[in-house]
Amino acid sequence: MSQYIAASEYAARRERLFATLPAGSLAIIVSNPEVLRNGSDNTFSYRASSDILYLTGFTEANCVLVFDKTGIGSGAGASSADSQNRFVMFVQPHNPAEEIWHGKRAGVSGAVSDFGANRAYKIGSAKMVLSSLAKKASAIYFKSGTNAKLDGVIASALAAKPMRHLDPHAIVAEQRLVKSPAELAIMRRSGQVGSVAHRAAMSHCLAGRSEFALKGVLEFVFATNGGVASYDTIVAAGANGLCLHYPAGLSVLNDGDMVLIDAGSEIAGYASDISRTFPVSGRFTVAQKELYEVVLAGQLAAIAAIKPGVTWNQLEKICEDVLVNGLNSLGFPMGKGGLSLSDVMPHGLGHWLGLDVHDVGKYRTRSRAKASNKRGKDVDRPFLEGMVLTIEPGVYLSLTDKRIPEPYRGICIRIEDNIEVTATGAYVQTDAPKSVQEIEEFMNYARNVRAECGENALGIYIKLED
Ligand code: GLY
Ligand code: MN
Ligand code: MN
Repeated sequence: MSQYIAASEYAARRERLFATLPAGSLAIIVSNPEVLRNGSDNTFSYRASSDILYLTGFTEANCVLVFDKTGIGSGAGASSADSQNRFVMFVQPHNPAEEIWHGKRAGVSGAVSDFGANRAYKIGSAKMVLSSLAKKASAIYFKSGTNAKLDGVIASALAAKPMRHLDPHAIVAEQRLVKSPAELAIMRRSGQVGSVAHRAAMSHCLAGRSEFALKGVLEFVFATNGGVASYDTIVAAGANGLCLHYPAGLSVLNDGDMVLIDAGSEIAGYASDISRTFPVSGRFTVAQKELYEVVLAGQLAAIAAIKPGVTWNQLEKICEDVLVNGLNSLGFPMGKGGLSLSDVMPHGLGHWLGLDVHDVGKYRTRSRAKASNKRGKDVDRPFLEGMVLTIEPGVYLSLTDKRIPEPYRGICIRIEDNIEVTATGAYVQTDAPKSVQEIEEFMNYARNVRAECGENALGIYIKLED
């Protein structure tokens, strides 16, 4: 359970899943494995799989969720208890020795009392219980590849009795795409925390500091607000931004360069995903400003067009027109024989956002008979109220490509915000300085504070003596 989502909402999500599953079926969702970081027992910090968070709020490792409809529609002999949807959890049992090291567990009783299971078992009995349930099933929803033992159980059941084998994640993914009011409230908060982190990083940006120093500032703000980074924090000095998912490192920030930060918080499981690019010195050069304003205009045009019914294709076209025209006017040879947009922006305009930073849900759907004359074909999916997405155009200019006008070479810019589709338009959940003027004023303010109160006035950076 999460303090942000009511138990009744989790129960309603499970009922929706049950409603999609056919009578006689069994759906099994297995937790992500813990992953060794180094040595024999030092693991990466554990993050439950998003489907399990979505359906229960349960955050522990070694867990299996089972949606059992094998008793439904099985005809004569089924007891009334059997003929109901049954939500079963397999969890780690209480173990005082383990809990001293790794923390309290909900245990089997907690799975029932706190997480809504109709029945719960120790994780160690999953193989036995599931092989017996699988024998009764007429269809199995199970994605293999996470737990070798359970893969074996399901493979044997399918070998013994041919039946439909489908992926439960595909159903949950579609449920997760449109966010509830409670989810939107958390995502707005995550957007605020991420935005404050970007402001903090901007105010701590100074030539001579490292990318890691800004990563530390960003993640300090995530942690002080009860969160963690929702993905590996990107802080790219200058041309390091040519690598789209460049992980912050020890490169030093230089006056005259820009720094590209793509960093987001995860609050109660929900991601923000924000990019800002700004000059290390706090003042844009002419070339940086010209290019930045092209990317910003493309982003603002796409955001302004968001409303229910609009599609990704439409937004991409709107943004592409602005970027291509803008680059043309700066002397870039856009078009045949010159540069294509994908030469300078080798990624899409954005993606769904939610429990996963690249959240689930199809981008294209089957058209309905009446909605289009392209009946039965995949079509771009119209936006619905409650969807959340990123809009993140960028340009990444090679240091050596002679087609790029010389003053712009090596400049990398990405601008990314998180947008919620509302009944009538869009709500931007993220808010860090973005226009050239806002960025320069904000960084100038930080510079003035440092000038008056000392270099470390804004906080936490300790300069080592030479
Ligand atoms: N932070 C990864 C992305 O923007 O998609
Ligand atoms: Mn993104
Ligand atoms: Mn991003």
